[in-house]
Amino acid sequence: MWSCITDFFTYETTKSVVVKSWTIGIINRVVQLLIITYFIGWVFLYEKAYQVRDTAIESSVMTKVKGFGIYKDKVMDVADYVTPTQGASVFCIITKLITTENQVQGYCPEVSCCCLSQSVLLLKLAKKHFCSCSGILTGKCVHSHANVSKCQMKGWCPAEVDTIKTTPMMEVENFTIFIKNSIRFPTFNYTKGNFLPTITDNYIRNCNFDMINNTYCPIFRVGDVVRYAQQNFTELARKGGVIGIKIGWMCDLDKSDDQCNPSYSFTRLDAMSQRTSVSPGYNFRFAKYYKMENGTDYRTLVKAYAIRFDVLVNGNAGKFNMIPTLINMVAAFTSVGVVNSTGIKIQCQSSLCTSNFSIVLCVFSVLVNRILS
Ligand SMILES: *[C@@H]1O[C@H](CO)[C@@H](O)[C@H](O)[C@H]1NC(C)=O
Ligand SMILES: *[C@@H]1O[C@H](CO)[C@@H](O)[C@H](O)[C@H]1NC(C)=O
Ligand SMILES: *[C@@H]1O[C@H](CO)[C@@H](O)[C@H](O)[C@H]1NC(C)=O
Ligand SMILES: *[C@@H]1O[C@H](CO)[C@@H](O)[C@H](O)[C@H]1NC(C)=O
Ligand SMILES: *[C@@H]1O[C@H](CO)[C@@H](O)[C@H](O)[C@H]1NC(C)=O
Ligand SMILES: *[C@@H]1O[C@H](CO)[C@@H](O)[C@H](O)[C@H]1NC(C)=O
Ligand SMILES: *[C@@H]1O[C@H](CO)[C@@H](O)[C@H](O)[C@H]1NC(C)=O
Ligand SMILES: *[C@@H]1O[C@H](CO)[C@@H](O)[C@H](O)[C@H]1NC(C)=O
Repeated sequence: MWSCITDFFTYETTKSVVVKSWTIGIINRVVQLLIITYFIGWVFLYEKAYQVRDTAIESSVMTKVKGFGIYKDKVMDVADYVTPTQGASVFCIITKLITTENQVQGYCPEVSCCCLSQSVLLLKLAKKHFCSCSGILTGKCVHSHANVSKCQMKGWCPAEVDTIKTTPMMEVENFTIFIKNSIRFPTFNYTKGNFLPTITDNYIRNCNFDMINNTYCPIFRVGDVVRYAQQNFTELARKGGVIGIKIGWMCDLDKSDDQCNPSYSFTRLDAMSQRTSVSPGYNFRFAKYYKMENGTDYRTLVKAYAIRFDVLVNGNAGKFNMIPTLINMVAAFTSVGVVNSTGIKIQCQSSLCTSNFSIVLCVFSVLVNRILS
C-alpha cells in the first residue's frame, strides 16, 4: 500500500541517446518529413485544423409552387394540388386523385371483401388475408349486384373503390418550385440567403435551375428535380414518392463572402418503397365535410397520390482561430520530436496562466523558443 503511494508520487523522465549513424539518421528525418507532410497537407490544409467549426446551422425554408394542370377536365391551381398550403419545407404536389362523393354514415356493402361467415372471416384475418375494409363489419351478408354477396359494413357509405385506373396529371412536370432559404451560423453570427447579391429581379423571374448554367437560380422545374434524382417522372406520378432537395452550405469564412454559396442536390428519399411491392409509392386520404339542410353530415373522400418534396438544409462553417491552431501545432511538433509537451506544460504552469490568452501566449513563446534553439 505504502509502496503504491510512493510509486505514485515520483517524477520520471526519459534519457536521450544520440546515435551518430547515417542510416538511422536518414530514417529519422524521412519519418519526420512524412509526419510533417501529413500534418501540413491533411490536418492543416485539408481538414482545416486551424479553424473553429460551427455545424449547428440555423435555417428557414419557404416554398411556393406555380403552374396549372388539367385533371378530369378541371383546371387545377395551387390551392387544389399543394398540401399543406403553408409553403413549408415539406409539401406534396398531388398528381392523381380518387374521389368518392356524397358519403354519409350508414350501412352498405363492402367493396373488396366477399361475404364469408364470421368464423371463416376470423380465420382469414388470422392468416393475414387482409381485405381492406372501409368500415366496421356487421357480420351480415348483402347482395350488392348480380349474384355476388358482400359483407355488410357500418361506416361512411358508399364505400370507396380505389382500384379504378386514372391517369396522373402530367402537367406537374412543368410546375415550378420556388425556394427561399435563409441560414445563420450562430458561432460567427453569419447570415446568408440563397439569393445571391448578383442575382437581379429580372433574372429571378425568368430563370430555371440547371446544374450547368443556372446553379444558383432558386426556381426548380419539377421535371428537372425528378430527373436529377434519377427517377422516371411517369412512374413517380403514377405511384407517388418522396424526393429530397438538399441545400448544402460549406463555408470557409476566411475567404471572401461571395464564396459562401449554396449547392443543391437531389435524391429520392423513399428508396425502400421503390423496391417493395407491398406498399409502393406514396398516397394518403383526406375528406371535405359538408352539411345537408336537415343537419346530416356528408363528405367527399379523396385518396391522393402525391410527390412529396422535403427540402433539407445542412452545412458548416469554419473560421481561423488561435486556440485550435496552437493545439494542432503543438501536436504536430511533439510527434516530430522538435518540442516535448511535458516541457511546455511545466514551463507554462510555472508562468502566470490566469487566462486563456496568457496560456496561448505562453505556448506560443515556448514553441518559438524551441524552434529557434
Ligand atoms: C349469376 O348466377 C348465374 C347462375 O348461377 C350465372 O349464370 C351468372 O353468370 C351469375 N352472374 C354473375 C354476375 O356472376
Ligand atoms: C411542358 O412544357 C413544354 C414546353 O413549354 C411543352 O412542350 C410540354 O408539352 C409540357 N409538358 C406537359 C406535360 O404539359
Ligand atoms: C449579429 O450581426 C448583426 C448584424 O450583422 C448585428 O446587428 C447583431 O447585433 C449581431 N449579433 C450578435 C449577437 O453579435
Ligand atoms: C449552358 O449554356 C451553354 C452555352 O450558352 C449551352 O450550350 C448549354 O446547352 C447550356 N446548358 C444547359 C443545361 O442549359
Ligand atoms: C418511364 O416509365 C414509363 C412507364 O413505366 C416508360 O414507358 C418510360 O419509357 C420510362 N421512361 C424512361 C425515360 O425510362
Ligand atoms: C336528411 O336528408 C337526406 C336526404 O335529403 C336523408 O337521406 C336523410 O335521412 C335525412 N336525415 C335526417 C336525420 O332526417
Ligand atoms: C521535456 O522537457 C522537460 C522539461 O524541460 C525535460 O525535463 C525532459 O527531459 C524533456 N523530455 C524529453 C524527452 O526531451
Ligand atoms: C478558457 O476558455 C473556456 C472556453 O472558451 C472557458 O470556459 C474557460 O473559463 C477559460 N479559462 C480561463 C482561465 O479563462
